Amino acid sequence: MKEEIIKYLAQLKEILKNYQRSKPKREFDQFYATEETLIKRALLIKKFYKKVNGEILFLGDDDLTSIATSLILNSPPIAVVDIDKEILDLIDKISKDYNFNIQTIQYDLRNPLPKDKFYNFNLIFFDPPYTPLGIFVWLNRALEASMGKGRNKKRKSPDFLKNKYYFLCYSYGERSLERGLEIQRIITQLGLIIETKLKNFNKYYNARPSDLYILKPTPKIDLRKIDMKRKAFYTFERG
Ligand SMILES: C[S@@+](CC[C@H](N)C(=O)[O-])C[C@H]1O[C@@H](n2cnc3c(N)ncnc32)[C@H](O)[C@@H]1O
Repeated sequence: MKEEIIKYLAQLKEILKNYQRSKPKREFDQFYATEETLIKRALLIKKFYKKVNGEILFLGDDDLTSIATSLILNSPPIAVVDIDKEILDLIDKISKDYNFNIQTIQYDLRNPLPKDKFYNFNLIFFDPPYTPLGIFVWLNRALEASMGKGRNKKRKSPDFLKNKYYFLCYSYGERSLERGLEIQRIITQLGLIIETKLKNFNKYYNARPSDLYILKPTPKIDLRKIDMKRKAFYTFERG
């Protein structure tokens, strides 16, 4: 193990040992990643964060990657959206105790994100439910949260797109490559490109490793579709 990882791993474990974590909830597809994985994720995020800055978004965070990221990146602004109040309360508590800069939002990501806050994030991390629908929905949330507002020409310009990075975790076994292919198809259909794929990057307790995909939006993104989904956000808006 690299020295840097060993150092941060000890610091993270020191923080986490003071808090009681609930058991992973099957109803939310939770499996906890190992602490070493959290450190590796945060170090990777750090590399990209240097280029883009801004607030980092986590779409679900039972693993507590936001905590490892706060530790290693020196408390950058972070937003964590999750359906699970217990996870969010824990993140809030750690964030307060350690003076991290994390805002938590309880929200069901099966619904489009409200457009007042979620529109211009550059760096978005997620370990979604590993079903084609789960991946599709989370990728749509990432697009909504990052693809900006205003003139489409600007939103599709290389200068705008170059700052956008989505980190997706997903696993398929060597014996079910067609599952990986299906996800690749969803990624392509949405107009995203796989910039990097790190095999077995994420390790978990009681689940097999998953890959980490680094995705970027291309000018093939269908902005009209993304905007339409959010237009009628509340029932009354549908008329
Ligand atoms: C989906 S789980 C990880 C799934 C896992 N990788 C698997 O094997 O399918 C990651 C996070 O998403 C959260 N989550 C699950 N369903 C959600 C929903 N509808 N809205 C928001 N967050 C959700 C969980 O609470 C957890 O913190």
